[in-house]
Amino acid sequence: MTYIVMDPCIKCKFMDCVEVCPVDCFYEGENFLAINPDECIDCGVCEPECPVDAIKPDTEDDPDGRWLRVNSEYSKVWPNITVKGEPPADAEAFERETGKLEKYFSEKPGRGS
Ligand code: SF4
Ligand code: F3S
Repeated sequence: MTYIVMDPCIKCKFMDCVEVCPVDCFYEGENFLAINPDECIDCGVCEPECPVDAIKPDTEDDPDGRWLRVNSEYSKVWPNITVKGEPPADAEAFERETGKLEKYFSEKPGRGS
């Protein structure tokens, strides 16, 4: 098991999650963060920190394994992030939107910290 970041994070990217992770296993894309499942110790402290409820155990809500694959793949190529940066200026406009993976997901790396 691991925790994973899911659709609500895309284009919201509030980053409250990164500062509480005891093993610094978040990785930054342009508009999304990924957890490295090999590094996550399943402590669960990041889950309640996310204002849009984007973080879940992979045993919930991911029946086809799509989000586990996204987190695994991109955490290997994006830079590590441990310090909260400035969320996107228009983040609130995307808080309730669904299906953001297909519409907006960016493979580009973020800046990391
Ligand atoms: Fe980090 Fe714990 Fe969240 Fe895993 S569950 S990403 S170890 S804070
Ligand atoms: Fe994303 Fe929530 Fe963290 S929006 S960056 S998972 S606090």
